[in-house]
Amino acid sequence: MATLKRIVCLANPNNPTGTIFTRQQFDDFYRHVPERVLIILDEAYFEYAKDNPRYPDSMHYRYDNVITLRTFSKVYGLAGVRIGYGFAHEELIRNLLKVKLPFEPSTPAQAAGIGALSDYEFLHRSLEQNARALRYLTSGLQELGIDVVPSAANFLMAVLPGEQEAFRIFHELLAQGVVVRPLKAFGLRDSHPLIIRGTKYLLEEQNEDGSWGDPDEESIRRRCHTTWTAIDGLRNYAWRAERLSRPQVRTMLKQC
Ligand SMILES: Cc1ncc(COP(=O)(O)O)c(C=O)c1O
Repeated sequence: MATLKRIVCLANPNNPTGTIFTRQQFDDFYRHVPERVLIILDEAYFEYAKDNPRYPDSMHYRYDNVITLRTFSKVYGLAGVRIGYGFAHEELIRNLLKVKLPFEPSTPAQAAGIGALSDYEFLHRSLEQNARALRYLTSGLQELGIDVVPSAANFLMAVLPGEQEAFRIFHELLAQGVVVRPLKAFGLRDSHPLIIRGTKYLLEEQNEDGSWGDPDEESIRRRCHTTWTAIDGLRNYAWRAERLSRPQVRTMLKQC
């Protein structure tokens, strides 16, 4: 493996546009990248895009100078737990381990990650809910005459007529408990991404007529499922804790 001297970071799907690049586009790009350049592929939103046949799931094709990073913060709803994973050529990982900080994610965080990976039901429901909300938000904005960039993630970028309009909407939505993000800092002055499940929608359920209503107890319980899974994971871990060494936990994580 060549000595790596430069880093290129690519997010796929990308934040804040929500767009993806295809495998063909990645391969075309890769042909121009010298071997000594490390490519960090940020796949934080990978689960939302993975079923698109044009999306290059980097778990299934590998280049030696590419490292992929994923997170449990998005589709699994575990942002506060601070856990994610990465994969790359073993020599690259070996070299990273030489320089990385000695602290691992906490044991509860590792247990939560393991629990979440096997919770297919939650994943499925989370993806379905996101797809429904994306359709709802896209059509609602389009009906208002606002252009949106088709999203392969869990947020949507809307293109507004100008910076002032973007900030006016930002403040008005904030007053209603919906957090959106102006993109001035990204140099996209006219655009304004809308995070689909802002504070207000997080605990609201979409009704059949498309409106949003208060959640019933069952839907709150469902939203909390990942947390429960994490706790179950912890319980499992608790009885095994004394018998599992750190390398064994790592092996468990690798098998997930
Ligand atoms: C592209 C991208 N990568 C990574 C992250 C952060 O993930 P984590 O919560 O695991 O730090 C975000 C969060 O918004 C993101 O948009």
